[in-house]
Amino acid sequence: QILILDFGSQYTQLIARRVRELNVYCEIHPYNHLPTITPDVKGIILSGSPSSVRDVDAPEVHLAAFRHKMPLLGVCYGAQLLAHTSGGEVKASSIREYGRAKLGTVKAENPLLKGIDQHSQVWMSHADTITSVPDNFDIIASTETVSVAAFQVEGEPTYGIQFHPEVTHSLQGKLLLHNFVVDICGCSQNWTAESFAETTVANLKQQLGDDRVVLGLSGGVDSSVAAMLIHQAIGKNLYCIFVDNGVLRKDEFAGVLESYKTLGLNVKGVDAKEQFYRALAGLTDPEAKRKAIGRTFIEVFDHEAHLIDGVSWLGQGTIYPDVIESVSVKGPSATIKSHHNVGGLPDFMKLKVVEPLNTLFKDEVRAVGRTLGLPEAILGRHPFPGPGLAIRILGDVTAEKVDILQQVDALFIDGLKREGLYDKVWQAGAMLLPVQSVGVMGDERTYERVVALRAVTSVDGMTADWAHLPYEFLADISNEIINRVKGVNRVVYDISSKPPATIEWE
Ligand code: XMP
Repeated sequence: QILILDFGSQYTQLIARRVRELNVYCEIHPYNHLPTITPDVKGIILSGSPSSVRDVDAPEVHLAAFRHKMPLLGVCYGAQLLAHTSGGEVKASSIREYGRAKLGTVKAENPLLKGIDQHSQVWMSHADTITSVPDNFDIIASTETVSVAAFQVEGEPTYGIQFHPEVTHSLQGKLLLHNFVVDICGCSQNWTAESFAETTVANLKQQLGDDRVVLGLSGGVDSSVAAMLIHQAIGKNLYCIFVDNGVLRKDEFAGVLESYKTLGLNVKGVDAKEQFYRALAGLTDPEAKRKAIGRTFIEVFDHEAHLIDGVSWLGQGTIYPDVIESVSVKGPSATIKSHHNVGGLPDFMKLKVVEPLNTLFKDEVRAVGRTLGLPEAILGRHPFPGPGLAIRILGDVTAEKVDILQQVDALFIDGLKREGLYDKVWQAGAMLLPVQSVGVMGDERTYERVVALRAVTSVDGMTADWAHLPYEFLADISNEIINRVKGVNRVVYDISSKPPATIEWE
C-alpha cells in the first residue's frame, strides 16, 4: 500500500482517489499522527498544505524515519518541505500561481516522468516556490515561471513536484502517479472491489467468530453494503433493524424491507410511526425536529437491541470521508455525536463497533455492493436525509401532511425515472410549503397547498446547481400532481443553487 501524509491540503482526498483508481490500496494519515510503518507500505506521498514552510509553526514530519528507506513523492508543500529541509530555498512567489501551466522541458528519461509529453499541461496552486535546491537535487521539469517544477534527489527514490497530478486538469497526472506508485514503488495493482469484499469477509469472520451483531439499516447504500458484508461473514448472527420513522418515502418501508429479505438478510422491520409523530407534534423549528427524530430513533433502536440475546457488536456503515473528517489535521470535528453526550450513552452505544466500510469512498462502496449482488435500486439511490420528509414539510409535521407529500414526491420521482432523468440528477424531492394559495378547478375557487419541486446536480452535496429539467417534463409533472393529489393546487420549481441556498429547505 501507499501512505499519504496529509498536511491539510484540499486535494489530499483526491490523491487517495487517484491512487485507488490504479487499483492500489492507500491510506491517508495526518502528518502529526504517523502510523507504524509496516512492511506492506511501499511508498509515501507528502500532500500539499495551506501552510508555508517559512511559517514558524509550519507542519513538519521526521522525514529521516523513511527517507532512503522507501520511495517518497512530495506534492507542492511536500516538495517544498523536502527542498527546505535539505538546504534548498523556498520563497513567496512574485506572482501567485493558480491554474493551468505548461511544463517546459521534461527529462523524459527520469522514471517519474516516463511517457510525459514535453509541454504537458499541469495544474498549479501555490503561493510559495522553490527558488534553489541543493547540488544533489536533479531538476527534471520546469515551467515558464517555475524553474523547479519537479526534482529527484540523486541516488535516492525521493521526488518532488510543484504541480498537482491528482487534479484532472493535470492532463497526464494519472500517468505520473502510475509511474510513482507502480514502477517506482512496485505496488501490485490488485486492489479491487472483489478483492476488498473477499478479504473483508474473511477478516470479519475472524474478528466476529460466533458473536452477534446488531445493525440499523436505513435503506441507503452504506448501511446496506455494510450489512451484506457482515452477513456474508456471520450469516444469521447479524440482526438488522429497519425502523419506519413515519417520514420515509411512499411505500419505501415495505419495498425496502422486502428487498432486504430477498437478499437473505435477517431483518426486523419496526413500525414506530406513531412514536415519531408524537415526538414531532407541534415542533416547527428545523433543529428541534431533527433532534426529536434523532432521540426517538435512539430510543427505538435501544429498545430493539435489548430484545436480542447476547449481542456484543454494533455494525455501522461509516465510510472513509467520515473517518478522515474526524481525525483530520484540523482535529476532530467538535459537533460530531454531540447528542450522545447528553444524559449518558444509550446501552447499544456501549457495544463494540464494527465498521467494514471505514476505508472506502462512496463510489467504492457502490462497486463493492455491486459485486455482492445488491440491486441497482438500492445502489443507485439518490441521497435521502435521515430526518426524511420531516425536513421537507416546512413547519409542524402531521400524518396528513406526510401523506400529501409522499404522494407528490412519488409522482415526481416516478416521473424522473420514466423519462430517464433520475440518474441525471444527484438528488430530487418535493417540499410542502406552509402557505395556501388560490386556484380554480372547474367552476370552483380553491384555496389549497403549494408544493415546491427540487432537483439538483452535484458531486458531493457540498455545492449544487438546480437541475435544468426540460420544461415539458415540469409542465406534465405539475399537471399530474395537481390533478391527482387532493389538497394541492400549485406547484413551483426551485431554481436556487447551493450556495447561497441549501439543497433542503430546512
Ligand atoms: P443541505 O440541505 O445542507 O444538504 O444542502 C446537503 C445534503 O445533506 C442532506 N441532509 C441531511 N442528511 N441528516 C441527514 O442525514 C440531516 O439532518 C440532513 N440535512 C440535510 C441533504 O439531503 C443533502 O443530500
